[in-house]
Amino acid sequence: NNKTDEIRIGFSQAMTKDDWRRSMNDAMLLQASLNPNIDLIIKDANYEVARQIKQIEDLIADSLDVLIVSPIQSKPITPVVQKALNSGIPVLVVDRKTENQEYTAYLGADNIEIGRNAAKEIIASNTKDSIKIIEIKGLAGSSPAEERSQGFRQIIQMFGKAKIVQSVEGDWEKESIQEKLRKLLQQNGEVDYIFAHNDRMAIGAWEVARELGLENDIDFIGVDGLAGANGGIQAVKDGILKATILYPTGGDEVINLALRIFNKESVAKNNILSTTIINKVNADIMFNQFAKINEQQTEIEEQLEAIRYQKELYYSQNNLLKVTMAL
Ligand code: FRU
Repeated sequence: NNKTDEIRIGFSQAMTKDDWRRSMNDAMLLQASLNPNIDLIIKDANYEVARQIKQIEDLIADSLDVLIVSPIQSKPITPVVQKALNSGIPVLVVDRKTENQEYTAYLGADNIEIGRNAAKEIIASNTKDSIKIIEIKGLAGSSPAEERSQGFRQIIQMFGKAKIVQSVEGDWEKESIQEKLRKLLQQNGEVDYIFAHNDRMAIGAWEVARELGLENDIDFIGVDGLAGANGGIQAVKDGILKATILYPTGGDEVINLALRIFNKESVAKNNILSTTIINKVNADIMFNQFAKINEQQTEIEEQLEAIRYQKELYYSQNNLLKVTMAL
């Protein structure tokens, strides 16, 4: 590998404990491995803001060509992103945004639209003339939580028959909401719909309702729509979730965008990935489509592995030949 051709891309990932972020990292690594010049460094901030700031500072010091950041929260990560820009490194924010528009580009789905879609699905799928809703929010100060809530409320407020009766502050993980929700439902179980800002919390909400014997009286809707056994699409197929809103990770797109930025091509400021409602009508199709994509990704990985092996074999045989000829 010729050092001068190397493209150094650093990624500060908010955390890597959940399947959504793991699948994002996998897609990035696969896309990066298609270009032998790319050196992709992924750092896990482990959901600690101070750690994310520190690792971005380290990446800045590490002569990076492009910095990618998925900020845990908007406000505290804004200054260090500014610092990267000031030192001449282009910054791509993915999934979550910083506080202002000070970044080279954003890539991710439109979270306001996601909130609106959730509300539309609730209104459209309901014949009741009064719909009582609990909203379960993602981590305060992270842009998808703010934007999903904003879009959701915009649409709900347009319809007199729907009302958000309670909201629960979560942090994207089900452990953050189950106790609070249990208390709320024990006080008043008269709820028609629960909208959680992601599928992990939506499934966690369903678990609480089931404990209380309320799982058939309440409908649940989440966000992410991951494929796979523990994902939201399977939960829709199983009847646990009434619906989920697809939130693509954009892992492969982000590497392509980073390359275009590296090549000084002009890129859009906002690169919006499309989203869709997944409910019982299309859950099977979506599940099968994603399974197919996964199979193809595995095949590509296997082919890349085979190419690497062939290359090594070629070089070692070539060296052997040189040694033999020298003798
Ligand atoms: C993954 C996640 C997703 C959610 C996204 C929002 O860490 O919690 O479930 O849609 O982050 O940024």
